[in-house]
Amino acid sequence: MTRTGDDTTRDTGEEDGAQRDPDDPDDPHTPDGQGDPEAIGLASTLFLTEYSPRTQLEVLHISACDLPAPVLDLGCGREGRLVRWLRDHGKAAVGIDLGAEAGPGLVAGNWFEADLGVETWGSIVSHMAFSSYFMHSHLRHTGEARRCAARYMAILAALVPGGAFYYAPGLPFMEHVLTPNRFEVSRQPLEALQGRWLDRVLADLFGKTVLYAARVVRRCPRGQAP
Ligand SMILES: C[S@@+](CC[C@H](N)C(=O)[O-])C[C@H]1O[C@@H](n2cnc3c(N)ncnc32)[C@H](O)[C@@H]1O
Repeated sequence: MTRTGDDTTRDTGEEDGAQRDPDDPDDPHTPDGQGDPEAIGLASTLFLTEYSPRTQLEVLHISACDLPAPVLDLGCGREGRLVRWLRDHGKAAVGIDLGAEAGPGLVAGNWFEADLGVETWGSIVSHMAFSSYFMHSHLRHTGEARRCAARYMAILAALVPGGAFYYAPGLPFMEHVLTPNRFEVSRQPLEALQGRWLDRVLADLFGKTVLYAARVVRRCPRGQAP
């Protein structure tokens, strides 16, 4: 495995030479990232690193057993580690990523082009993926922010009533324009990241105000049970 920056090395606990299962979310030593942030650049680090299922679930404040299926993971990473873990634990889950390997539930595709459907998914998750890209486009004026905003609304439309979109980092400028009678937004601090190098990467790139995970629930129409 590629050696990582100081903090990540400390996170992995690899110094003791113990065998680790990279897909075990209960393994506190699961490797979380690859590459040296300083060496390859903060943005590319943020966009390319893949995380353990444990970290993704912690950051997004998701309890896997309560996660309504089917689950779509947007920007699931090459290995689709969360998708694999959810499927191994009996959840219907699919992941899309530009670089997805061939594998059960994994689709190599672009989140801008994929047919997400309408009222299809119980949960859509995107850990350090779609919203990172959106935030970067927004703050750096890359010309993609409008396209991201349209996609964000398509993602919400792809949720079944009562379904939720979980993502980090948060997107305050989108969450603030959602109609409260149609969507319920909640935010959770990214305490799972505190003290890790990713915390600094996010703060340097985006500023402290976006350091939270968001959950947007599509409310059920009045009188309709979830
Ligand atoms: C930082 S990684 C996070 C991966 C995974 N969610 C995790 O937490 O381990 C971001 C992922 O988004 C994917 N990605 C970037 N742009 C994409 C796009 N337009 N469509 C699909 N995937 C994209 C990248 O290939 C990368 O695997």
